[in-house]
Amino acid sequence: MLETCRSNCEMHGIDAVLIEADMSTYVNEDAYEAVIVPTGSLMLLDGLDATHDALVSFRRCLKPGGRLIVDIAAPELIPEIGSMRSWRVDDDLWTLTTDHLESDSSKNQTTRWLRYEKWHDGQLMSSELQLFRLQWWSVGEFSRVVREAGFSNVEVHADYQIGKSPGPESDIWTFTAIVA
Ligand SMILES: C[S@@+](CC[C@H](N)C(=O)[O-])C[C@H]1O[C@@H](n2cnc3c(N)ncnc32)[C@H](O)[C@@H]1O
Repeated sequence: MLETCRSNCEMHGIDAVLIEADMSTYVNEDAYEAVIVPTGSLMLLDGLDATHDALVSFRRCLKPGGRLIVDIAAPELIPEIGSMRSWRVDDDLWTLTTDHLESDSSKNQTTRWLRYEKWHDGQLMSSELQLFRLQWWSVGEFSRVVREAGFSNVEVHADYQIGKSPGPESDIWTFTAIVA
């Protein structure tokens, strides 16, 4: 992921400092004007405590008045499994199949099995299984966790449209907040 980021930065002429660290614990006090966690990556953290710790670390990293911007995917109450995506890289065909789903409603978590396969001339060349656990949130629950981590002015925008309220059809919610 960092390699992809590095090459995207180079392509756009951006001289960025890239750091590899655990977002639940990484702190660089008062260093940044914004912390942005896109595309639901925060949902990879395991439960309330880890998410709270990450948000507190983000607050400590921000300068006074700094802004938090976090995307959370709306819960899939009827999850889709058995779906397959495919794409080609040079002469190889790659497939990604969502095979299986386990859910733990006591923790609001789902774990999918993602099976990646690489095919060449109809032959399976390699295969990899990824256990993909996601933490799901309601709008109210996640807003409360953000406030409890020391942020104020919490706002939620649906589907990347500023001012659009989350509704039954929303796919993604963007939470914004300011250091209290
Ligand atoms: C869906 S990918 C990121 C996609 C990226 N935001 C984008 O838009 O292309 C999620 C990333 O979060 C990273 N990740 C998972 N848990 C993490 C943690 N505790 N600290 C830092 N990174 C983590 C994973 O290694 C993975 O690279």
